Amino acid sequence: MALPCAKCPSSSSRFAPSPPHPVLPRSSRCRAAPSLSSLDCLSRRLVASGVAARPPGRRNSCAFNMVCAQEAVTAPAPSPKGTPSKKSENNGSLTTAVPSKEDSSLTGFTAGGNESTVSITVVGASGDLAKKKIFPALFALYYEGCLPKHFTVFGYARSKMTDAELRNMVSKTLTCRIDKRENCSDKMDEFLKRCFYHSGQYDSEENFTELDKKLREHEAGRISNRLFYLSIPPNIFIDVVKCASTSASSANGWTRVIVEKPFGRDSESSAALTRGLKQYLVEDQIFRIDHYLGKELVENLSVLRFSNLVFEPLWSRQYIRNVQLIFSEDFGTEGRGGYFDSYGIIRDIMQNHLLQILALFAMETPVSLDAEDIRNEKVKVLRSMKPLLLENVVVGQYKSHTKGGITYPAYIDDKTVPKDSLTPTFAAAALFIDNARWDGVPFLMKAGKALHTKRAEIRVQFRHVPGNLYKRSFGTDIDRATNELVIRVQPDEAIYLKINNKVPGLGMRLDRSKLNLHYAARYSKEIPDAYERLLLDAIEGERRLFIRSDELDAAWELFTPLLKELEEKKIAPELYPYGSRGPVGAHYLAAKYNVRWGDLSAEHYPD
Ligand code: NDP
Ligand code: BG6
Repeated sequence: MALPCAKCPSSSSRFAPSPPHPVLPRSSRCRAAPSLSSLDCLSRRLVASGVAARPPGRRNSCAFNMVCAQEAVTAPAPSPKGTPSKKSENNGSLTTAVPSKEDSSLTGFTAGGNESTVSITVVGASGDLAKKKIFPALFALYYEGCLPKHFTVFGYARSKMTDAELRNMVSKTLTCRIDKRENCSDKMDEFLKRCFYHSGQYDSEENFTELDKKLREHEAGRISNRLFYLSIPPNIFIDVVKCASTSASSANGWTRVIVEKPFGRDSESSAALTRGLKQYLVEDQIFRIDHYLGKELVENLSVLRFSNLVFEPLWSRQYIRNVQLIFSEDFGTEGRGGYFDSYGIIRDIMQNHLLQILALFAMETPVSLDAEDIRNEKVKVLRSMKPLLLENVVVGQYKSHTKGGITYPAYIDDKTVPKDSLTPTFAAAALFIDNARWDGVPFLMKAGKALHTKRAEIRVQFRHVPGNLYKRSFGTDIDRATNELVIRVQPDEAIYLKINNKVPGLGMRLDRSKLNLHYAARYSKEIPDAYERLLLDAIEGERRLFIRSDELDAAWELFTPLLKELEEKKIAPELYPYGSRGPVGAHYLAAKYNVRWGDLSAEHYPD
């Protein structure tokens, strides 16, 4: 029996164990799939045949465009309607589609019937994020065989553009980075032929009705599933959602909306945004993106903890001294100063990216890998956080600095930033979780722009060994002897554990070494961009990596009082030179809790 097969494992198959040497019987290998790796095919087979754990309610999606001769597989054939639409998501109000005479090889007009299509509309297609991240991610998914057989990408924005102009714009940002495989330019051409553009206003139902007409032409009578990606400034989110839902939502499939951050500026504005969205959408249709959750090592955090016996028993106040969540960029806000000045680093990075990582890190074991079970645990962590006090926060702003004959600008040198701006470009904070597992453990966060390095990492510093027999070998600095687990999210992904060992030889000299999982050395496959994973999840209806509204409320509840206090008291940020290690206040804050920033002490005790 020929079953649909996918080169790309569905999200559920990402939980499938990947055997090191996937040897399949010839008859069960995927065919007609030049770029299909047998590993992916095997992983999919494991899921299809029920060998791998599949969370309840997960679908066999991403199973669109390849044929697998899988005599050995006994999975049921997919539903004739393809991806089932969830009733709660189906907000459609339109009637039957009208096929046109377009090229059937592209739009599949002659097919009609029960097959399904996915139409992805990038709203704000002329913008930076669309060019930089969304279109390249969609192409990568197409290249990897992860998009359905019938899909269309529409760009929507006010700028006037023809389809050809959009394709030309998009083509400049597509890359063939994926494992340097062949046929990339052919694939690009094929992908670009599936991309179209519609120019319209964001608050015009008439313009969205025109878009709907075009989408229906491409859907050609198939079951229509529609994904709108709001890559626009937040003040127009509601207008777009209103028009898209009333005039361009699917009549017979699902309609989903990916919402980019920022989700408000504080508790009130965030609640107002959620209320506005929920006038037209149900929660299940809203996919609030935090692209850090799509990063490989952030996704791996739960795997590391819950599938290795050696970590979970240590994951508490009993063994962990402190946890550090560090984000730094070695460039300023160049080009985004206008946006940044009304948000600042706390809203831009801490309230979302770092706090999401903290919640994932600290949550209790979820009942299952189901999205709701995971999000339930995350929200409990967020709601258990102690109020964040001003005395536990340090803010900074970068100033101009000249190095090697080059002058780097101050934050306030940006023309779009007021000269007297107090907006922090750096912040450090000490947070505490008021529950039995984490009572008293400082979770230190640090985020900054225009620092000396670009990195994102999680550092877990373990307690001292009680009555350490070897303490003399470490001199007076017993912090040197403690274990540290580092999860380097980027760049150069790695997970390493610092341990103590004996220097080989007749003496007894101790050394500090790393047990190192260095991704580039371990895996030849390039790591997908976070946007690829998240777009695929949204298409599949997998919500695990998206933010639920109660998570968002809890995150704002934590940060809003602090942000208000900073703004009302007009707290002046400590200035730090562009390219430096940030304000010295961050060291004092850490010292207050007997902590040393791991990223900086690594310079003294090499990583
Ligand atoms: P842009 O400022 O480039 O805006 C996207 C498009 O929206 C523009 O091309 C423009 O299209 C339209 N637009 C811009 N300003 C307005 C306005 N005031 N009123 C109506 N339409 C407007 O944004 P980005 O592409 O940088 O980001 C999109 C979203 O993603 C934003 O919410 C941003 O905060 C978020 N984001 C961006 C990141 C990035 O790296 N760029 C990173 C993370 C989140 P047109 O004029 O053609 O209609
Ligand atoms: C975005 C912030 O969410 O994340 C930006 O708005 C920041 O200010 C960016 O530069 C960092 O993302 P990444 O994936 O490049 O680390």
